[in-house]
Amino acid sequence: MTDIFTPAVLGPITLRNRVIKAATFEARTPDALVTDDLIEFHREVAAGGVGMTTVAYCAVAPGGRTDRHQLWLRPEAVAGLRKLTDSVHAEGAAVSAQIGHAGPVANAASNRAPALAPSRMFSPLGMRPMHVPDEAEIRELIRAHAEGARLAEQAGFDAVEIHFGHNYLVSSFLSPLLNRRKDRYGGSTANRARLAREIACAVREAVGDRMAVTAKLNMEDGVRGGLTVPESLQVASWLEADGALDALELTAGSSLLNPMLLFHGDAPRREFVQALPAPARWGMRLVGRAFLKEYRHRGTYLLERARQFRRELTMPLILLGGITNLDDMRTARAEGFDFVAMGRALLREPNLLHRIRSDATTQSACVHCNRCMPTIYRRTRCVYRPEPLSIENIGGKNL
Ligand SMILES: Cc1cc2nc3c(=O)[nH]c(=O)nc-3n(C[C@H](O)[C@H](O)[C@H](O)COP(=O)(O)O)c2cc1C
Repeated sequence: MTDIFTPAVLGPITLRNRVIKAATFEARTPDALVTDDLIEFHREVAAGGVGMTTVAYCAVAPGGRTDRHQLWLRPEAVAGLRKLTDSVHAEGAAVSAQIGHAGPVANAASNRAPALAPSRMFSPLGMRPMHVPDEAEIRELIRAHAEGARLAEQAGFDAVEIHFGHNYLVSSFLSPLLNRRKDRYGGSTANRARLAREIACAVREAVGDRMAVTAKLNMEDGVRGGLTVPESLQVASWLEADGALDALELTAGSSLLNPMLLFHGDAPRREFVQALPAPARWGMRLVGRAFLKEYRHRGTYLLERARQFRRELTMPLILLGGITNLDDMRTARAEGFDFVAMGRALLREPNLLHRIRSDATTQSACVHCNRCMPTIYRRTRCVYRPEPLSIENIGGKNL
């Protein structure tokens, strides 16, 4: 297959190629608003040749942020986001907003708002119990996702990617371990999938066919008692039948309980301890080895799981995880995936695609050391990439 670099249809939009920059939280919004630094991050990725970049992470409510420096979608954020989407479009790429609610992954102390969980649990991040939303509050959360998508449309985004992974709110509802509710949103697989389905339908209804709507779905949590591949396959087939989504991006792991399954590769324990605020730092010292497990990194490391989804579903699928060169992309296409998403390789080299296009044997310089991960607490970057000199000045400027 050599059609990686030709235009491809994603619902109502057409991307100039089949490569999507996966959401990697940028930490460039110190006052929860767009900065020039955030715009430059995405302009550079777009100039590097991707079909679409993804702005991570746009919370749909202030309490849905992992901390208070994250952007949340509200009318004041639209002008800055519009400048960002204009600048990506000027480089010929499309741009997606990853929208969602962090649920149990939110830091309540930082947000000064309670973290949400499907059932009673204690938040190790906020050091307090989480709030369990009742049905009226769930309706409000669904409405917030629809409103977030509407604001993204106003800001000129081509797509929204709804976060259904990593034990963020919707993913925590999918998990039999975290969701022990007795109402319509807990218990059976159908009940635990209800929130995902209702959000997908509400977002579609909000934006019609004026935007592409995708979701990033956990294939499994990688946690004892959590969501497994067979259950996720069932959820995915319901999402397909509902017809609200243009594609699914397939992920795995839990930011709360097993983050390294997302990434594979080295577990940067020491860097995490240094980067984390207290008391999370003390917790990491105690449980770092159990929390940050190591999974051997290899090209297309989520393919075996994702292949099962490809077999069962007809809707477009996006393969993610360890895609770093043309061989990986060709493998994804040969296996029937419509798009590929790349995270760390593009943090390392935003212009990687241009290099691959001009030399098919190009290999990524990313060594999956994962030391980019703890940089999310300050300003996300590949630690091997030189920084521009004026970066401190750029970082704090709101738009
Ligand atoms: C620094 C960093 C930040 C990330 N932030 C997010 C995020 O905000 N939302 C999300 O869904 N995934 C996030 N991810 C996960 C990536 O989207 C992707 O799933 C993962 O890195 C595997 O893809 P890769 O092998 O191409 O890097 C992040 C990854 C990294 C390295």
